[in-house]
Amino acid sequence: MSKQEKINKITTSAVLKMKTDGEKISMLTAYDYSTAAVMDEAGIDIILIGDSLGMAILGYDSTLPVTMEDMLHHTKPVSRAAKRAMVIGDMPFMSYQVSTEEALRNAGRFMKEAEAHGVKLEGGREVAEVVMKITSSGIPLMGHLGLTPQSVHQLGGYKVQGKDDKTAKKMMEDARILEEAGAFSIVLECVPATLAGEISRSLTIPTIGIGAGVECDGQVLVVNDMLGMFEKFTPKFVKKYAKLNIDMRAAVEQYIDEVKDRKFPGEEHSF
Ligand code: KIV
Repeated sequence: MSKQEKINKITTSAVLKMKTDGEKISMLTAYDYSTAAVMDEAGIDIILIGDSLGMAILGYDSTLPVTMEDMLHHTKPVSRAAKRAMVIGDMPFMSYQVSTEEALRNAGRFMKEAEAHGVKLEGGREVAEVVMKITSSGIPLMGHLGLTPQSVHQLGGYKVQGKDDKTAKKMMEDARILEEAGAFSIVLECVPATLAGEISRSLTIPTIGIGAGVECDGQVLVVNDMLGMFEKFTPKFVKKYAKLNIDMRAAVEQYIDEVKDRKFPGEEHSF
């Protein structure tokens, strides 16, 4: 386990204290029990069941087709695996946009049915009322600004956000609005590092960056990207800590050869 082992259970107050103490917050996505168990034992602070599930696991081209049922199905095993990490369920497209009541009902499902410790949703001022409703009902909520993939068609693609003064100022204001509405942290995705640094310093709640520079209070990556399991496209902000696709392919090829050559199973695998 990493040096964070002194904290037994990551809560919203532990995450806030990390910001105050200047300790960076580590977050990764996971979508299944075994992966989440490895992360939890390694000492990850937050596990996000991201709606990146759509691309990483379900084979869609975007996050838009992901449903509440998909998200709950994958959040449940992660919650079972996480003994120390905080588990955050990502609210999928159209689970919180239609009405505040539906948003609260769906946020509640993550907590009641999937035993998550909180939820995440995308957007700024336009979701302020929903954020207030969810957080005032006792559900910890993580915001998400910058590149918000559920709005990919409106944004015109997966592009860096907040590059000019007007959009940078709006993002600063949105971050403050989310904090005032009760969010306990905010993901900043694909935001210029200087702007992300300014936002991070202006808030009392932590920011978690992905493609947003080192000055964010924490970092998040999609697990399939950082383990090198997804090779079609690698965004600039991804660092690959392993090349699992190469290892997996080699293992599968060896297995196929050994089956064909009658080398597997050996005597030691037989009864
Ligand atoms: O869906 C996801 O994995 C996310 C992270 C990239 C923050 O929203």
